[in-house]
Amino acid sequence: MVVPYTHEPFTDFTVEENRKEFEKALKQVENELGKEHDLLVNGERISTEEKIVSKNPANKEQVIGRVSKANKDIAEKAIQSADEALKSWRKWSARARAEILIRTAAIVRRRKHEFSAYLVYEAGKPWKEADADTAEAIDFMEYYARQMIELGDGKQVQSRPGEDNRYVYTPTGVTVVIPPWNFAFAIMAGTTVAPIVTGNTVLLKPASATPVIAAKFVEALVEAGLPKGVLNFVPGSGSEVGDYLVDHPKTALISFTGSREVGTRIFERAAKVQPGQNHLKRVIAEMGGKDTVVVDKDADLELAAEAIVVSAFGFSGQKCSAGSRAVVHEEVYDKVLDRVIELTNDLTTGDPTNYDNYMGPVIDKGAYDKIMSYIEIGKEEGRLVAGGTGDDSKGFFIQPTVFADLDPEARIQQEEIFGPVVALTKVKDFDEAMEVANNTEYGLTGALITNNREYIERAKDEFQVGNLYFNRNCTGAIVGYHPFGGFKMSGTDSKAGGPDYLILHMQAKTISEMF
Ligand code: NAD
Ligand code: ALA
Repeated sequence: MVVPYTHEPFTDFTVEENRKEFEKALKQVENELGKEHDLLVNGERISTEEKIVSKNPANKEQVIGRVSKANKDIAEKAIQSADEALKSWRKWSARARAEILIRTAAIVRRRKHEFSAYLVYEAGKPWKEADADTAEAIDFMEYYARQMIELGDGKQVQSRPGEDNRYVYTPTGVTVVIPPWNFAFAIMAGTTVAPIVTGNTVLLKPASATPVIAAKFVEALVEAGLPKGVLNFVPGSGSEVGDYLVDHPKTALISFTGSREVGTRIFERAAKVQPGQNHLKRVIAEMGGKDTVVVDKDADLELAAEAIVVSAFGFSGQKCSAGSRAVVHEEVYDKVLDRVIELTNDLTTGDPTNYDNYMGPVIDKGAYDKIMSYIEIGKEEGRLVAGGTGDDSKGFFIQPTVFADLDPEARIQQEEIFGPVVALTKVKDFDEAMEVANNTEYGLTGALITNNREYIERAKDEFQVGNLYFNRNCTGAIVGYHPFGGFKMSGTDSKAGGPDYLILHMQAKTISEMF
């Protein structure tokens, strides 16, 4: 038996020795930056002329790595290789497949700070966020490995006299994995290993902003003994390689995490049956969020202000779970707003290699321009009370920004900004608070800060989100503890890191024999 699952502990950076270890890893990784990384197709490393050049968002001049770029021909070879490898990989026992994940988790754990340091440089993550991202990647491997061992013999069904019935899970087929850049390690790793451990073969197309951390992870899986063709690494452009893989008749399952725009496009394209296709494609699509922290009048107001600030500005608000809206009861609105402004003004923004900076940069020029344009919209729609400025001379830095007095229909209260911007709306009572909180097309996370038990019970039913938190922030779901996935246009509610997740990657088969 494997030991029971518990989540990977976060590094305590208040301990000087831990800080020194992390600084050592940052130096080591800095010396490695700029290397070339190959594609992996059918176990062969392929170097192409055309590269994705990954750069440090905190320092535009610094190249993190040059990653070979797949085109349609390479994508086709990768699909054929995944299709061929499926024949044997699907026959591996659940336990043998799970052991590959447990071995990979051990490799990553041994080099934990190294992986986190890559996240600091490539994704602009502050230390704690990088450490949590790596811990979550380890968690996905450890958790799914155990879940697969449990599911290996299927589930129990009834048999009658003279009849033996079984209910087992079989792989779905060739799987295309398309992760985002924001949990560049955790989501990329979790969405890759879930189809692998369930017996499928995978084409991983990483996000173009963070392909190096993905290349490092692929190396770890190969080192752990993953057979050739089971995982094919095909970085490339979304529109060229992404569409090709999604449309391919041999693709059986697509696991996408990213924006609503790309997710709905994939969902639609996958529905079209292509010539030569003899199955319906299955799509897991986890998409954006416009998440709300609700503050009742009967609440711990310090906790409320902290929950708003942490939810809004952790990793510069670049989380699908980020609390970019706060809905506050009118009786406590001014107090909460004042405290949110104070806490926000205390936050430090700058180079994430420096432990003292709470926030690093946003991911790239496109994100910087988009967020700054939303700040201009916010100035028209509400009252700017903190932040509001940016500096993209060296990297893409935006000050944590707070807007007050927003109409719930305002664009900055409806559209996903995906940056360090939070906007507050005042409401007269709990009924209106729920109405405003639910008044977005998204339904991913939400938090309610209250001491009122009746409101807690009502919110359990009325707050339309996949992940609902009471008296805490709305970010930071932990694998195995807070299964994660959204309602409405936030996606298919697959609940990554939860007890039902792996089943979405398999086909159940009923086997009945008379004797
Ligand atoms: P994105 O949609 O721009 O890109 C996601 C992935 O899709 C990338 O790998 C990208 O290269 C790929 N892609 C782009 N066009 C494609 C196409 N035509 N065909 C196939 N693939 C294509 O999102 P992003 O900027 O990487 O990530 C941010 C978004 O992800 C936000 O909206 C955020 O809320 C969401 N997100 C959601 C969750 C969740 O669990 N719900 C988690 C993290 C991020
Ligand atoms: N798991 C991430 C969070 O909850 C998305 O913030």
